[in-house]
Amino acid sequence: MDFGVAPQIADVVRAAADSQAMGYLPSADRATTARATSDWMAGTFGWQVPEEHVFLLPDVLSVLRVTVQRFTPPGSPVIVPTPAYMPFLTVVPALDREVVEVPSILDDDGRYRLDLAGIDAAFAAGAGLLVLCNPWNPVGRVLTREELAEVAAVVDRHGGRVFSDEIHAPLVLDDRPHIPYASLDERTAGHTVTAVAASKGWNVPGLKCGQMVLSNPDDVAAFAPYAADTGDTVGLLGARAATAAYSECQDWLADVVGYLRGNRDLLLELAGGIPGLRVSPVEGTYIAWLDCRDLDLPGGPATFFRREAGVALTDGSSCGEAGEGFARFVFATPRPVLRRALEQMRDAVAGG
Ligand SMILES: Cc1ncc(COP(=O)(O)O)c(C=O)c1O
Repeated sequence: MDFGVAPQIADVVRAAADSQAMGYLPSADRATTARATSDWMAGTFGWQVPEEHVFLLPDVLSVLRVTVQRFTPPGSPVIVPTPAYMPFLTVVPALDREVVEVPSILDDDGRYRLDLAGIDAAFAAGAGLLVLCNPWNPVGRVLTREELAEVAAVVDRHGGRVFSDEIHAPLVLDDRPHIPYASLDERTAGHTVTAVAASKGWNVPGLKCGQMVLSNPDDVAAFAPYAADTGDTVGLLGARAATAAYSECQDWLADVVGYLRGNRDLLLELAGGIPGLRVSPVEGTYIAWLDCRDLDLPGGPATFFRREAGVALTDGSSCGEAGEGFARFVFATPRPVLRRALEQMRDAVAGG
């Protein structure tokens, strides 16, 4: 995001510098951040997780790696519903695991739905893990309780596991709340590894602290021997920033979410002035998913808009085959910049 950080977080980093605290993460800090995570989840989502079930890792993608390596059958393929956050499609093969892309269903109103039959077939063919991203980068969905329950039924039928990436949980733009998948019921608690972080909501991804939330005692016992080692991979500043974010920076977040909501509305309004461009409804995240297929842009949407409009987007093709002809637009930027970007895109499409 282009919005800086909360003053409390800047203070934490400054205080660490002033006291020359640049060493490894003390175990007391680790416990404090785990407790802050647990309290935040209880207070915000009504999900009660003991702090002993919260483990710190450098980032959310590290949680994905641990999940694949420690909580799935060796060699089993990994299901990634697409369009997907790009690294899911590269991190998994780097662990010598096959990715099974399951293209999601695009309704006429631009909303995406998970293809449950496709996920079911992938589990039946031997996959061990489903990567669920909710709120869903890049398509902006915040999944409903009913949708999550439908996923749970499919996973449970096959004895599969779920990696639930909830890094965008703080960034829900409308009244519908974020529901942690593992909080649904005993089944989902039993088969899920959840990843959260302060890094998106509070804009501190470079400080490197993600949280792995385990929700069944067997997983906690299986992971406990490795926990101490992984703790030393987490930065002190990241852990302290996460603690401050979760426990002291709710007002800052509320302001950001309000501003993002205004940006989302402006983006939809201005995109409406670009004939042939369609935008999926953005319920959460600060990412808009642009359907540029009817524009037939030379070189693909990202290349075209960078060259002709001076606007940098991610090409949808890096989000899986289902993203071909689409683009990903990060709108967490000051409104005048957003307006200018969309006007330049409009002019580029018009050939002006
Ligand atoms: C859905 C999603 N997951 C994971 C990440 C990466 O998080 P981290 O830097 O904690 O690995 C991002 C960053 O944009 C993201 O949007």
